[in-house]
Amino acid sequence: MMKAVRLQSYGDVDQFLVEEIPVPEPGPGEMLIRVEVSAVNPFDIILRRGLRQNVRPLSLPATLGTDAAGVVVRVGPGVARFRPGDRVIADFPHNGRGAHAEFGVVPETAATLLPDNVSFEEGATLPKAGLTGRQTVTALGVGAGATVLVSGALGVVGRAAVQYLKEIHAVPVAGVRPDRVDEARRVAGEALDITVAPTTPSFDYAISTAAPVMQHVIDHVRKDGTVVNIVPEVPASMSEHAASKQVRLVQVRHRTDAETLSAVAAAAASGALRIPVARVLSFAELGQAHRLVEEGAAGKVLIKPWDPSTFGIR
Ligand SMILES: NC(=O)c1ccc[n+]([C@@H]2O[C@H](COP(=O)([O-])OP(=O)(O)OC[C@H]3O[C@@H](n4cnc5c(N)ncnc54)[C@H](OP(=O)(O)O)[C@@H]3O)[C@@H](O)[C@H]2O)c1
Repeated sequence: MMKAVRLQSYGDVDQFLVEEIPVPEPGPGEMLIRVEVSAVNPFDIILRRGLRQNVRPLSLPATLGTDAAGVVVRVGPGVARFRPGDRVIADFPHNGRGAHAEFGVVPETAATLLPDNVSFEEGATLPKAGLTGRQTVTALGVGAGATVLVSGALGVVGRAAVQYLKEIHAVPVAGVRPDRVDEARRVAGEALDITVAPTTPSFDYAISTAAPVMQHVIDHVRKDGTVVNIVPEVPASMSEHAASKQVRLVQVRHRTDAETLSAVAAAAASGALRIPVARVLSFAELGQAHRLVEEGAAGKVLIKPWDPSTFGIR
């Protein structure tokens, strides 16, 4: 048996309960991971509130959490890339058997080795943010020399997008609040205040990760330019605004992809990608972790089992 935090029904954070449930068994192509650290993503809030229950219903009670860093315990038939004892990071599926548990099962295609010089805490910040950041840049189709405005560039996905733009020798320009412009310059190289509307558009490409300033991002982009947006639930008014400016608005949703995840891990190992940790909380504090993410934590909110020395497979 193992401890897991389970959402009892859709709603507020009082619906989380730490329960004792059977340790899952890995099937073909899957592996069992002892989760050392997991992370909370904004999408977990959407799932908890039941805002996706029509398209992605959870079988309740459900364990949330997609980002995890841990150690492989057992591998199922056909797993070739991993062995018990490997340190890994994984992008858990949204199937209600997520990472806020002592153990979890993932397809081997959703994991990559965690480099020795990257801690479990750092590792747990990487999967969703790293994948999404890279995939936004890929969706833009830009290469070396391209200048790209990135809103929310000091957020977790924004940082990953900025890092990948630098890796491919493109030129990121961070779009942040005025009091964070100096800090953003240190991270991205160039930065501007995204809270004011531009008088004239001066970018061909932009990445939108901050919902409140989506319109300004569109206004920064010239006719026939492209905005790749990751903020879910884009209002119709925003699509209409982009269309009226003849700016292409492309929606990107993160995809699990082992090859990209390996590149993310390598960027962390080289020191190029650093995602700050806002707080580390325990299983019993998952509700508090959701609140922090809802309010906009400056960095990743991580979750650890109550007391890793006391709990384990029983
Ligand atoms: N499509 C996908 O697959 C996918 C994947 C991951 C995330 N997402 C979505 O992407 C968004 C960002 O996620 P995240 O994890 O990167 O969140 P995050 O770390 O909280 O980053 C959000 C950033 O937006 C900035 N921001 C918020 N309000 C602002 C405002 N009024 N003016 C200027 N900047 C503002 C924040 O700046 P401050 O720090 O200064 O407040 C922060 O840097 C969320 O909506 C999330 O749901 C989508």
